[in-house]
Amino acid sequence: MSIVENVRIGKSPAKPMLRPCDLSVPFSKAGTDILVIPRSVDFALGSQINRASLGDYRMRIEPAIASPLVRDALNSLSIESPSLVDDICTSINLFAKAFQQPRVDLRIEVTAEQACPKFHCDNVFVRMLTTYAGPATEYIYLDHPSSIYQAPINALVLLKGHRHPSHQETVHHRSPEIPAGQRRLCVIYNCEKWLGAVL
Ligand SMILES: [Fe+2]
Repeated sequence: MSIVENVRIGKSPAKPMLRPCDLSVPFSKAGTDILVIPRSVDFALGSQINRASLGDYRMRIEPAIASPLVRDALNSLSIESPSLVDDICTSINLFAKAFQQPRVDLRIEVTAEQACPKFHCDNVFVRMLTTYAGPATEYIYLDHPSSIYQAPINALVLLKGHRHPSHQETVHHRSPEIPAGQRRLCVIYNCEKWLGAVL
């Protein structure tokens, strides 16, 4: 009798799925005011973002019914990508479970201008964001403010706000400058009660 190994043919190995604890455990530590989780995605948005409508779409969303709402939101910005819808829904689920949120406040924005040029910290509990196209979020550590870091494209970026109990004011962030002719697609996840979530 021969033993056949379970081999995946024609596909790259499956990426390990992020678990809620991959966000919540490292992020809960005092001294961790930012958590950047680099990721790759297996889809390309191509040039459609530079043709997308400028603007943002905001909604409070239950993870279980997110998919058609996210699809419609992207369509309203002239973006069509089932893979992007799936990725945003996965992130909604992850964020909701990591921070015990029954609903997530979601903002999907397409911008061509730097929205927030000053480095700052938000007056919230926690905020997560992903830049799918264009330049990504910049941040500095306040003990070395002349070194500016930029999150990788597609990374999950978690930022502690002033309302987080273990926030220590070590990191400030800002929106990046956007070169002329480019657009930025950024998706932002907030707790339903921005100011006082429960851990
Ligand atoms: Fe901010």
